[in-house]
Amino acid sequence: MDIKKVLNEATKQIERCSSQQELQNVKVAYLGKKGKITELLKSLKDLSLEEKKSTGAKLNSLRTDIDDLFKNKFNSLKVKEINSKLKNEFLDISFPPPNLIPSKVHPISKTFDEVISIFGSMGYSVAEGPDIETDYYNFSALNIPENHPAREMQDTFYIDDTDKDNKPYVLRTHTSPVQIRTLLNEKPPVKIIAPGRTYRCDSDSTHSPMFHQVEGLFINESTNMGDLKGTLIEFCKQYFNVQNLKVRFRPSYFPFTEPSAEMDIAYEIVNNKIHLGTGDLWLEILGCGMVNPTVLENCNVDTNIYQGFAFGMGLDRITMLKYGLTDIRSFFSGNLNWIANNGFSIGDY
Ligand code: DAH
Repeated sequence: MDIKKVLNEATKQIERCSSQQELQNVKVAYLGKKGKITELLKSLKDLSLEEKKSTGAKLNSLRTDIDDLFKNKFNSLKVKEINSKLKNEFLDISFPPPNLIPSKVHPISKTFDEVISIFGSMGYSVAEGPDIETDYYNFSALNIPENHPAREMQDTFYIDDTDKDNKPYVLRTHTSPVQIRTLLNEKPPVKIIAPGRTYRCDSDSTHSPMFHQVEGLFINESTNMGDLKGTLIEFCKQYFNVQNLKVRFRPSYFPFTEPSAEMDIAYEIVNNKIHLGTGDLWLEILGCGMVNPTVLENCNVDTNIYQGFAFGMGLDRITMLKYGLTDIRSFFSGNLNWIANNGFSIGDY
């Protein structure tokens, strides 16, 4: 057996390889299960003991030599392939991405979290309802009958499909229908907030066709207007982080409350910046009142025993106020630069 000849032959073949795949094929041909060297080692069994010893040792060192040749060639091919890739590919997809736009929490999401946390600390739990509502839950049950002018206060999006009363479904124009859904499902006392999306056909710098409200509802045997005012003032102090907040409640009208009010927060512009809680300018942030007994009766609540208050607050409004943002549409623009500048890091929480 001419070991030198095998080594020479292997060396030549290895040298000729120009890719890792080609080299792998040659390696199998020599060192694989049915490879040349493996076959040679197998043939040792036919030799005499003396020959076995000397030929065995030579074959083993041949195997080691060839293995080394493969390793060296493999390494040099790898370096060559990387170098040629670096030369030809201007885009290195294995390179880690630059940290250009760190992920941020949207201001509305932050407001949602804060609203839930503040009212949560006052004992409110979170209730939910669907964005697509029936005419009954969105209007009639809330004491807004058909042809009532209050329906025109809210430019409704109607859906091209009708419910069991043969009325078109609507995109809910407010979160108030969650009051009805909750009262029909739970026995008083009821103490819930319902944050969520609402829809009206309206669009300018302070109105968006989709916006956010939080509804509040507290029904028990004795809750009164004073509790309502105290609750809302306390919420504003905590949310806006202003202790001496100047607020006012203005008489208003909603079909589902009696008496009804709107709450305004005082503000002034100092050095071109909005300053909350002081000054002579007023911003309306919510509607509220004592729940109209008609609404409670629609939900089979005994009005000889129970009473309570409700409120509905614009979440986009209070977010804009808190952070001095002027255009509601920027919330929904999907602009990454905007969210990078106006969003919050998880660490800010
Ligand atoms: N649903 C009213 C709106 O969107 C806001 C509102 C006013 C909600 C008074 C209430 C309330 O719960 O008591 O304009």
